[in-house]
Amino acid sequence: MSSSFSGKTALVTGAGRGIGRAVATALADAGADLVLLARSKEQLASAADEIRARGRSAELVVADLSDPSQLRQAGRAVMEAGGVIDILINNAATVAPLGPTERLAPEEFVSSLVLNVVSAAALSSAVLSGMRERGWGRIVNLSSGLAARPASMPGGNVYVSTKAALEAHTLNLAAETGGTGVTVNAYRPGIVDTAMQAWIREQDPRQIGDELHRQFVTSYEQGRLITAERSAASLLGHLGTEDNGQVWTVGSSPTAL
Ligand SMILES: NC(=O)c1ccc[n+]([C@@H]2O[C@H](COP(=O)([O-])OP(=O)(O)OC[C@H]3O[C@@H](n4cnc5c(N)ncnc54)[C@H](OP(=O)(O)O)[C@@H]3O)[C@@H](O)[C@H]2O)c1
Repeated sequence: MSSSFSGKTALVTGAGRGIGRAVATALADAGADLVLLARSKEQLASAADEIRARGRSAELVVADLSDPSQLRQAGRAVMEAGGVIDILINNAATVAPLGPTERLAPEEFVSSLVLNVVSAAALSSAVLSGMRERGWGRIVNLSSGLAARPASMPGGNVYVSTKAALEAHTLNLAAETGGTGVTVNAYRPGIVDTAMQAWIREQDPRQIGDELHRQFVTSYEQGRLITAERSAASLLGHLGTEDNGQVWTVGSSPTAL
């Protein structure tokens, strides 16, 4: 039986496509109103149409969360758009850069770190005091099964490092909010058939490394990818619990990405 989030307002980052969009739609089905954030206005507008067709409201915030100056403004824009945020799903992320670490530019690492980790912390910071005052809040950070086995993605050093950092951030923040009614958890969504997976398969194996490329092509060809809707349904199941400081995993597959 799924939970009701009627009367709640949820902010989902990266809500224009993929897992974020499926989570936003599932939250609307569960009665929540939405604030949708990403860079692509067109994708957000199309997601908003889907949500409004379900009878829920959808406000848009267009922002690049890898840009520290836009990140600062995004927190304010979100509060203006949504009034209050009861549920925050920090989902937006990049898997780039990929490839051998000797070709890594520090700026690329910083950009990924800002998007994949700092933006989650900054948006949590923007919504936390309101959640505490109301005595209820849900924060979920989209991680990856790779955080548990960082050696299994050679050429993905930046990505696995940011996801491990995101999980540490999550568990530390959960310890801070314990007993306040605000819960903070991470979610490993599985290997999901989205643009992120397709983008990796499209990369030149000579650039990102044969082994990494083969891993992702093989997963796809073996039909191991699940739909974003299935992953979102699993996330919503967890969201209805009082768990705090947990790393949730889709289904029970130990090999989930
Ligand atoms: N797919 C998988 O197999 C898988 C596995 C494990 C974990 N995950 C995690 O699940 C989450 C969602 O992944 P996905 O596969 O759904 O990815 P996706 O299809 O690439 O979607 C990513 C979303 O994030 C937004 N985004 C990207 N860069 C952004 C930026 N700089 N500022 C604001 N928004 C930005 C994108 O919109 P714009 O480009 O318009 O900004 C898009 O809406 C990520 O945290 C990912 O690491 C995915």
